[in-house]
Amino acid sequence: MQEKFNQLDAKIEEAKLGGGEKRIESQHKKGKLTARERIHFLLDDGSFQEMGMLVTHRSTNFGLEKTKFLGDGVVTGYGNINGRLVYVFSQDFTVLGGSLAEAHAEKICKVMDMAMKNGAPVIGLNDSGGARIQEGVVSLGGYADIFYKNTLASGVIPQLSAIMGPCAGGAVYSPALTDFIMMVENTSYMFVTGPNVVKTVTHEEVSAEDLGGASAHSTKSGVTHLTYANEIECINGIKNMLSYIPQNCEEDAPSIPYEKGDENREELNTIIPDNPNQPYDIKEVIDQTIDEGSFYEIHKDFAENIVVGFARLAGKSIGVVANQPAFLAGVLDIKSSQKGARFVRFCDAFNIPLLVFEDVPGFLPGTDQEWNAIISNGAKLLYAFCEATVPRVTVITRKAYGGAYDVMNSKHIGADMNFAWPSAEIAVMGAKGAAEIIFKREISAADSPEDKWKEKEAEYAEMFANPYNAAARGYVDEVIKPSQTREKLIAAFKMLENKVDKLPKKKHGNIPL
Ligand code: HXC
Repeated sequence: MQEKFNQLDAKIEEAKLGGGEKRIESQHKKGKLTARERIHFLLDDGSFQEMGMLVTHRSTNFGLEKTKFLGDGVVTGYGNINGRLVYVFSQDFTVLGGSLAEAHAEKICKVMDMAMKNGAPVIGLNDSGGARIQEGVVSLGGYADIFYKNTLASGVIPQLSAIMGPCAGGAVYSPALTDFIMMVENTSYMFVTGPNVVKTVTHEEVSAEDLGGASAHSTKSGVTHLTYANEIECINGIKNMLSYIPQNCEEDAPSIPYEKGDENREELNTIIPDNPNQPYDIKEVIDQTIDEGSFYEIHKDFAENIVVGFARLAGKSIGVVANQPAFLAGVLDIKSSQKGARFVRFCDAFNIPLLVFEDVPGFLPGTDQEWNAIISNGAKLLYAFCEATVPRVTVITRKAYGGAYDVMNSKHIGADMNFAWPSAEIAVMGAKGAAEIIFKREISAADSPEDKWKEKEAEYAEMFANPYNAAARGYVDEVIKPSQTREKLIAAFKMLENKVDKLPKKKHGNIPL
């Protein structure tokens, strides 16, 4: 018997070595951890249970029958993060470059199936040279199997993707189908076609980092939601994110104990400048309102005119969506609409209540925006809010103009409670532009058109640049002092805790993609 035990031990040792000492060394030299080291840092100590450690490929192409590695280049299994069950797959670049083929894909599909059946998140740690070239179309089939499962799992269980090495070609579409992508600076990249193909086709010379590194995708494309300086920070980021989100779409997000204290926040009374055209930082408003230090911002460097992220209010998870007056005056444009819509839909899919801070001068004008479809992109945000059935609360801090007023979680599209600060201006448009249009004739006939314009602007502002018309109609439930905001929000979300709201029966809606 001992001999058989020894045989098993030897196999386990072999599997744990992946592609061997030399390749592990080379992985470390690149500033990267191995697949197993990543899992070690991700999961609670001793909680990892591996599945499929002894799986090997079945290919005999190009001499592959002589290069079999136990595990076939991906470590899969389950374990706990802060005591909560998660499923994980971690690609092993030391084995055939982490390339994906039949058996490798089957292992990933297996953990995804189990995660679906048992209602727990899947975390993918990606580090792969893409489709295993020797296995040909079988590799493509393996990818497609994963894409299919990613899509079926979407909205059922959270799916998080960390990119910790190459992720190229069609391989990018599995992370793209998941809920959040995180990248590590300088050691990870994602692109559909690499620098060489780009050079051949478009004659552009670009490095892998510039084309698809963490910086490109966090600022330009918005493909990645979070970036980290190194792998350990990235792994901690995954754990932190999980603390805000539930295990599956049937559960509520975890909450932490909270003791009621003085909820008055005097600091909020002095954030809005006297001049309505002067910017201020909405993140100060968020930070002063939520539980101290609880903001977990998503898409920080992309479309900064809207701020989104998770937070806790009285210990409970919420999703925050806020216009940012300190960037492009908080205007809504194509990218900010996409960013906001995606976040709203995630929160709604996973029962996370939504808090909206609104200070928006409208949609961004211009040919660039119109020709690139601000209409259908703005409609994404509108659609996302309209169909969200989670508790939804809005605080209008200052401007709520035009269509953007409707879009930003107004009562009319299903928000549950809407508050406005006395500084709120809820109107069809800003007073200056409005006066120019509706008093056009009077202004041009006046002895001093400039003075007349100013007079009419003041008249319009007096009438509409306030929250009271909307409050008189019930479009705003309460006008509150900024210092009361936290207390009012805690009460509102508590009141909405058992909200039940159902969409009409349908196969699925048709969001303007
Ligand atoms: C098989 C691969 C591989 C692949 C790398 N390797 N990629 N084996 N299939 N796709 C192997 C190498 O042969 C090498 O084996 C080991 O992994 C490490 O690779 P290196 O090239 O030495 O590493 P590095 O210099 O770091 O370069 C990494 C790399 C490069 C940039 C990823 O390997 C590369 O360009 N690979 C090919 C990428 C690619 O074109 N993939 C197909 C994309 S198309 P040894 O034995 O020497 O250690 C695609 C379609 C998916 O994925 C479609 C889905 C729908």
